[in-house]
Amino acid sequence: MNTHFGVDYYPEHWDKDRLEVDIKLMSDMGISMVRLGEFSWHKMEPEEGKYDFSWLREAVDKLGEAGIKSILGTPTAAPPAWLMNKHPDIFPINDKGMQTTFNGRHHDCQSNKIYRSYIEKLVTKMAQEFGQDENVIGWQIDNEFGNSHGDLCFCDSCRDRFREYLKDKYKDVNALNKAWGTHFWSQEYNSFEEVFLPGYTVAGRNPATVLDHRRFCSDLIVEFQKFQIDIIKKYSNNQFITHNYMGFSPKVNYFELGRDLDFVTHDQYPGGFYLAMPSDDEAFLSETLELIRAFKNKNFWIMEQQAGPTGWEILGRTPAPGKLALWALKSVAHGADNVIFFRWRTCTVGTEQYWHGILPHNGKPGRRYYELSGMIHKYANLMEEIQGSGSNAKIAMVYNYDQVHALDIQPHHPELSYVNVLTDYYKAFYNVNVAVDMIGDYYDDEALAPDLSKYKLLIVPLQYIETEEKARIYREYVEKGGHLVLTYRNGVKDINNNCQSEFELPGRLCDVLGIEVKDYDCLRDTSVKVELNLFSGNGSLWSDIVTPTTATVIGKYASEYYKGEACMTEHSYGRGKAYYVGTQLDENLFDKFAKYLLTEAKIKAPFAGIEKGVEVVVRSGEKKDFYFFLNHNDRKVNIPLDMILDMNEEIIENRGVLNPFEVAVYSKEK
Ligand code: GAL
Repeated sequence: MNTHFGVDYYPEHWDKDRLEVDIKLMSDMGISMVRLGEFSWHKMEPEEGKYDFSWLREAVDKLGEAGIKSILGTPTAAPPAWLMNKHPDIFPINDKGMQTTFNGRHHDCQSNKIYRSYIEKLVTKMAQEFGQDENVIGWQIDNEFGNSHGDLCFCDSCRDRFREYLKDKYKDVNALNKAWGTHFWSQEYNSFEEVFLPGYTVAGRNPATVLDHRRFCSDLIVEFQKFQIDIIKKYSNNQFITHNYMGFSPKVNYFELGRDLDFVTHDQYPGGFYLAMPSDDEAFLSETLELIRAFKNKNFWIMEQQAGPTGWEILGRTPAPGKLALWALKSVAHGADNVIFFRWRTCTVGTEQYWHGILPHNGKPGRRYYELSGMIHKYANLMEEIQGSGSNAKIAMVYNYDQVHALDIQPHHPELSYVNVLTDYYKAFYNVNVAVDMIGDYYDDEALAPDLSKYKLLIVPLQYIETEEKARIYREYVEKGGHLVLTYRNGVKDINNNCQSEFELPGRLCDVLGIEVKDYDCLRDTSVKVELNLFSGNGSLWSDIVTPTTATVIGKYASEYYKGEACMTEHSYGRGKAYYVGTQLDENLFDKFAKYLLTEAKIKAPFAGIEKGVEVVVRSGEKKDFYFFLNHNDRKVNIPLDMILDMNEEIIENRGVLNPFEVAVYSKEK
């Protein structure tokens, strides 16, 4: 059976004779692919220059005979002890100058030239061995770039690379001095060779320097990945190349990383581990999946889908019966064309002994095996039919890495987080089951530019760094009839992360918004009362005290010295409308505002009335739309029959009924 489901498999962790048993169990379950090898450098090169792929060859061949295809990971996130002893300079150095050590993983500095030379030899050998193998369908480069690089590397090699990066970017050191505003606190450089990495300081750090450094670190990882891709491509032409992303993790710009990949994949662990997962975070998970689709403007795979209880030292809750299948199908509903579960069998040794796989420690099939096996068999045909189908959202929300970093460097309010602000907006539409596409803002880029004409409503929260090009795009969007939402802290900074002074706040789009902001208040220890049309509630984090020039006031402050002043406005411009939100609304006000926007932009919400905890997601194909009804409640719920009146049944137990954690799929011809 050729399904679109797989597992992450570590045959090297078990006795050799287990391979056949595993293959049989996988085949019975409907597994059609595995990912192998991404942490097994020592098994592939036990001593310098002595390569041994026999174990991997045997696994690939035997899996292949059973119709199970392999994806190979390059094991460069776990360089072996012989290498680290010989070249300890490969260990990353943290921002306080302390060298990290062996015993975990990701203990590698990606700029280190000696490390690169070892990778080059190993990956070449791997690609020579498997690059033309018909049982190997693709490659994963390294593993979760940015994971475990909590402290970016501050070694001399990285410092030199940073200087080269700056030389290339600014050409002249005076251009760098200007961009970074180094005349403040006597930070001027006379040459690029004088530039320091922005590590630990006694007091303060230059925000412009830190932002450039974060961009540099991301570019370094993108280049490190490309270095490996180029090697593989010399020996392989029919195999895909991908990488496993981690949702909102900010270390690497995933749009840039995706340019060199055939498609992106994501690791999805909804159950939480050291942090308990709040039960209402389904909205955040959906938003994350939408973001993954944004990175290449197309569908994706899940490379690691939770398969049991998770945790290293502290564990998350055990997913109740039905939840593993529900989460896997949630990924599918939001655009995953293939889903691979992490991991096949729970490990008995090492850090991840409690990060459970489909099989328990003893390798005997149990509840998780049968649950997922049932789901795979049930969904095998549908998965084939929906390949490539996408969302039909009429709303888009912009995500941008410069804003992530700039607002992390200077968050204003200790609790202000760019991602959380976006999530509040996302949630308001999630609550009424209206789809929101996450998009990047690479408008001039052929490969990445989102098609804004598809969207009736565009939300651009915290566009803190504003550029001329983007302001032009948003102006045109409204002129042509779009509805645009901008928020507080729009247009504050220039591309170098310095405050702009050419424009009134909120920047270049004052006339589109019909407002100016001349005063603001960081709501450090308080919230502010807000009245929105007939409703009242609270604003938090920040207040922009808005002066309408030509805009209409839709929300006012009802406390503080700016009581009665404008907080939210709307303004007709061209054929469209621009809205401004001067504070962070509470959940109730967000819901009210979202409903108002839906009416204004004429966006339908046909599933708004379904019971709370039921998520409805559409995958829109060429001929049919597929409606996924996901019941996140641990109780039975009914789907109002008028919602599914003209829908066909694809995968359902009982028309109009959803059991606890059940998923049902209906469809409609187009
Ligand atoms: C992921 C990682 C896997 C495994 C898993 C459980 O982040 O890619 O290799 O470590 O988490 O910890």
